[in-house]
Amino acid sequence: MVKMHNDVKSGSISRRTLLKSGALTAAAVAFGHAGRAFAKKPASIPQVRLRNGVMMPTLGFGTYSLRGDLCAESVSDAIAAGYRLIDTAKVYANEEAVGAGIKKSGIDRKSLFVTSKIWVEDSGYEPAKRAFQTTLDKLQLEYLDLYLIHRPRGDVQGSWRAMEELNAAGRIKAIGVSNFDPSQLATIAAAETKPAINQVEMHPFLQDTGELTSRHRSDMQWEAWAPFAEGRNGLFTNPVLQQVATKHGKTVAQVVLRWHHQRGVIVIPRSSNPGHRRENLAIFDFKLDAKDMQNIAALDQNRSQFPEWT
Ligand SMILES: NC(=O)c1ccc[n+]([C@@H]2O[C@H](COP(=O)([O-])OP(=O)(O)OC[C@H]3O[C@@H](n4cnc5c(N)ncnc54)[C@H](OP(=O)(O)O)[C@@H]3O)[C@@H](O)[C@H]2O)c1
Repeated sequence: MVKMHNDVKSGSISRRTLLKSGALTAAAVAFGHAGRAFAKKPASIPQVRLRNGVMMPTLGFGTYSLRGDLCAESVSDAIAAGYRLIDTAKVYANEEAVGAGIKKSGIDRKSLFVTSKIWVEDSGYEPAKRAFQTTLDKLQLEYLDLYLIHRPRGDVQGSWRAMEELNAAGRIKAIGVSNFDPSQLATIAAAETKPAINQVEMHPFLQDTGELTSRHRSDMQWEAWAPFAEGRNGLFTNPVLQQVATKHGKTVAQVVLRWHHQRGVIVIPRSSNPGHRRENLAIFDFKLDAKDMQNIAALDQNRSQFPEWT
C-alpha cells in the first residue's frame, strides 16, 4: 500500500483522519478562482502538500497523444470543467497546443498547476536548461509548477542539478522524476533537493512497485500515469470493477480514480470526450469501503500493461 497524501489544503488535518471521519468531501478544497467563464459549480478537488510545501491538486488532466486543435480544445474544456492540474511533456509534441488551450480558457495562470517533463535526448545540465526554456516558450508560461525527468536515462545527475537551480530561482515550483525505480532514485539521493514526485505506471493491474513504496513512502508523493491502463486488459469491462461501480451507483472509471485517491496517489486521467472529462471529476462524493478495496487489490497482476515502453 502506498502512502496517503500528507495533508490537504485545509491545514494540519491528515487525509487519513478525514477519511476516517468521512469528512473528506466537506474538507475538499474548491481551488482555482472560477469566474463566470468557468463551470458554475467547479469540482472540489483536494490538494496534497508536497515535501517542499507546494500544494498540488490530487486529480488532473493528462494530455498524452492529444495533439493540435483537439488538444487545445480538450485542455480549455478541462479547465472550464474544473481541472486545474495539466500534465504534458516535451515528447508528447503538444506543449504548444496545451499552451494554446490554457490561453483559450482565460484562466488566471496562478490558479493552474502545470507539469512538463524533460525527455531523454535533453538529459544533462546544459541541455536540460535549454529544454526547460523551450518548454516554457511553447507553453507560453513564465514558470512551471512541476518539472519531471521523464525517464531515468542519460545524464540524470546533470539534469537534476539544472532543475535544482531552476527550482531555487523560482522558475519551477517543484521538481521530481518519472519511471524511476529505487536504484535509479539512489543516483540522486545525495542531491540537496529530493524529488517531490515519482510519476509511474499504476492502475488496478499494476498496483505497487514494491520496494519503492516502502522505502520512500514518507516523503515522496506518488502520481499514477495511465490510471486506467488506457483501458487495456479489459479494465472498463472488468466484472469486479463493474460490481463495485454498480454498488455505488458510479462508473468503472470513477471507481478506479477513487481507488487511486484513497491510496493517496495523484491521478491524471486523459480523455478526448467532454462527458468523460466531467465524469472523471465526480469522485469526491463517495467512498470505497474496505471490502471494495480488498476486491480491487485482488486484481493486481504486478505487471506493466505497456511492455513496449519499458
Ligand atoms: N510519465 C510517463 O511516462 C507517462 C506515460 C504515459 C502517460 N503519462 C501521463 O498520464 C496521463 C494518463 O495516462 P494515459 O493517457 O496514458 O491513459 P489513461 O488516462 O489511463 O487512459 C486514457 C483512456 O481512457 C479513456 N477514458 C477516459 N475517461 C474515461 C471514462 N470516464 N470512461 C471510459 N473511458 C475513459 C480515454 O478514452 P476517451 O478519450 O474516449 O475518453 C482514453 O482512451 C497521460 O495522458 C499523460 O499525461 C505519463
